[in-house]
Amino acid sequence: MFIKKSLTVAATLAAFGLSQSALAEKFDFSSSAKKADSVVVFQAGDEISPDLKRLDKQSQSQISAALKAADFSGKSKEIVELLAPAGLNAQRLIVVGLGEDAKLNAGDVNLVGANISAKLKSVKASDVQVFTQGVSDNVSNASFAAQLAHGINLRAYKFDKYLSKKRPSEKNYRMVVSQPNKAESRYEKLEAIEAGVFLARDLTSEVPTEMNPAHFAKAAKELKKLGVDVKVLTPKQIKKMGMGALHAVGRGSSEGSRLVVAHWKGSDDVPIALVGKGITFDSGGYNVKTGSSIANMKSDMAGAAAVLGTVKAMALQKAPVNVVAVMGMAANMVSKTSVAPGDVVMTAEGKSVEILNTDAEGRLVLADSLWYARKHYSPQVMIDVATLTGSKIRAVGNRYSAIFSDDDTLVTQLTASGKNVEEKLWRLPLAYGDMLKSPIADMTNLGSGGPGASTAAMFLKAFTGDTKWAHLDIAGNALTKSDKGVAQSGGTGHGVRLLSDWILTTQVK
Ligand code: BES
Ligand code: MN
Ligand code: ZN
Repeated sequence: MFIKKSLTVAATLAAFGLSQSALAEKFDFSSSAKKADSVVVFQAGDEISPDLKRLDKQSQSQISAALKAADFSGKSKEIVELLAPAGLNAQRLIVVGLGEDAKLNAGDVNLVGANISAKLKSVKASDVQVFTQGVSDNVSNASFAAQLAHGINLRAYKFDKYLSKKRPSEKNYRMVVSQPNKAESRYEKLEAIEAGVFLARDLTSEVPTEMNPAHFAKAAKELKKLGVDVKVLTPKQIKKMGMGALHAVGRGSSEGSRLVVAHWKGSDDVPIALVGKGITFDSGGYNVKTGSSIANMKSDMAGAAAVLGTVKAMALQKAPVNVVAVMGMAANMVSKTSVAPGDVVMTAEGKSVEILNTDAEGRLVLADSLWYARKHYSPQVMIDVATLTGSKIRAVGNRYSAIFSDDDTLVTQLTASGKNVEEKLWRLPLAYGDMLKSPIADMTNLGSGGPGASTAAMFLKAFTGDTKWAHLDIAGNALTKSDKGVAQSGGTGHGVRLLSDWILTTQVK
């Protein structure tokens, strides 16, 4: 029998006093069963797993009779709970449908884990036993167990800082699996990614007064404990370096803008640059937002949170990759010092911009952030992540994020990673740059109607030089009102799993 009490990532986090509470549930991987109050078994389509067969026999076919009564047929998302099942010595049995085995991938297994976690959320029982052996021919047993644990834990996280009723106490999951060592080492890497997702969620869910650019910079500095090099530029330094667009957006807030850089140098490769939009609150500025959706604008730094979370995920697993995150931070506020519509600002790139609409601020902070990443790191590739446009939501909704790039290979790779982790991408045209002409400056920050997500992307392109680049518009993906998929309501940490998957599959030889 094989049980390890503290997993490496948890131990590392604890040693540095980093958000340990975020690691929600406890898992152990073992080839043998133990007594538990809840038992989980699987059926992929009509493929009844060996453990389900065994338990059914033990219950003298009570289980199969109950499944028949519930019309259970092993389809994906089907889940049946049997209380006090006969002959099992457990309080409940949960039978989970996986759908057709041949179609199952890692992202699906994460969602199955999330469903189990949701089902058990309000249950008092604390010991859960999950029988994973012989469940799938398509996904290896070790991967199935690890990805399931990942999905369970992602869904168990809840931002409960301001709730008087905290999340229920943690559950102990025993994952019964053929090769526990292998499953556990797979899970350790996923656990590092979870820690990155939880950081992004914490930052995104935090209220605007508690998460301004200075607070965000402080949170980034925590990663120094993991060997990440962190630099923060103040408004004065930003101005001095010529980053007039980033500076202008923060001008109306008391703390001003920050440029935050977090660098994990786990190899000597040419770096990858991840660039994040970090608007800690987007009031719209003088083009003030109207309507109730303004309350969601604390999440307008979710791009920055996603790239910082990804750096944490890489550092925690000591990934042999060279990744630098560059985050343009500002609060877009209305005050006597705010930038006014009609103002012209100068970017570090040397292009002047007429600010026709102060609510199109994300592209302004990104312009100088992209320039900084290029000038200071000469990256092999840059990917920016931003809650950039409402137009993106109107085009593809919130079940996809949008990708813009001239590089077909990069689009193919990122789209594949999106499928792996169920953070799906849809490509939109990188075109309509002519709609950004200004009579007074080199360009305006406002497209002339129509394809707003594309004109925003074309604005960014002007600051990418010859560097290989993709832009991810995650507007609508960063925050969820209701519990869905691998997240409960609040910040989703969208992008961390996608970027981590892409980095690990394309950069590790
Ligand atoms: N942060 C918003 C985009 C956004 C909208 C994100 C909804 C998440 C949910 C962005 O800064 C913005 O205000 N964009 C404007 C641009 C317009 C003024 C050109 C928009 O999309 O309306
Ligand atoms: Mn805006
Ligand atoms: Zn914004």
